[in-house]
Amino acid sequence: MSEAPIGVFDSGVGGLTVAREIRAQLPGESLLYVGDTEHTPYGPKPIADVRRLSLAILDELVEQDVKMLVIACNTASAAVLRDARERYDVPVVEVIAPAVRAAVSATHNNRIGVLGTEATVSSRAYDDAFAAAPHLEIFSQACPMFVEYVERGDTTSPELVRYAEEYLAPIKAAGVDTVVLGCTHYPFLKGVLGYVLGPGVRLVSSDVETAQDVYRVLASNGLLNSSGRAPQYSYRATGENTEAFVNLAGRFLGPDVRHVERLM
Ligand code: SIN
Repeated sequence: MSEAPIGVFDSGVGGLTVAREIRAQLPGESLLYVGDTEHTPYGPKPIADVRRLSLAILDELVEQDVKMLVIACNTASAAVLRDARERYDVPVVEVIAPAVRAAVSATHNNRIGVLGTEATVSSRAYDDAFAAAPHLEIFSQACPMFVEYVERGDTTSPELVRYAEEYLAPIKAAGVDTVVLGCTHYPFLKGVLGYVLGPGVRLVSSDVETAQDVYRVLASNGLLNSSGRAPQYSYRATGENTEAFVNLAGRFLGPDVRHVERLM
């Protein structure tokens, strides 16, 4: 079992930010990544649809004998975390609690902004996760267009900057010193977000902390790969257009993702 891959799932390319960090912190582990590119974006969908789509992919990953599931998508984490932990025998790691931990240790003025998809913001999953720290003031903002821009490879256009100015205006006005990138696509937008928010605001994403959770959970369950054999990385996408996924992943992560198989 310890040689089995870690299953990582996102609605598209965003979860690659988490996969990249898992590879950096756990270079001996194999990964099986699935992007549900046929149904991306999840953010505007009703939560029941996100739940159905997410469980179908997680079921498929478990069929493939992964030793752990990483839900590298905030919208899916908000929709299925509780179900997934009850449904599967393998450990399940998600991205919301790690991002919250990072934000709690980053803030100095106790005012934190959270950016996410409509589904994530309306699920109030971040408000629940921050509830253990009642001294914090949380300002959440849905950013409906961001995932579409990332999925089409646009991280710099003037239209994107205009959307960022519009979405971030209430967060800036609230005087936050820390902003959680509550969607795994948003680390690809760090440039524009940093530009619009200004240098005094710290951007926090879940990738590094999530990979630390993966390490912790594997180690405490005796699941670290001790075989010494080279790890295997496999990338799969749903739908017809796997070529678009390869191009985008190559653009964001370098030529590492050369081949993507079609899933389902
Ligand atoms: C999406 O597919 O709309 C969002 C992915 C995420 O919430 O991380």
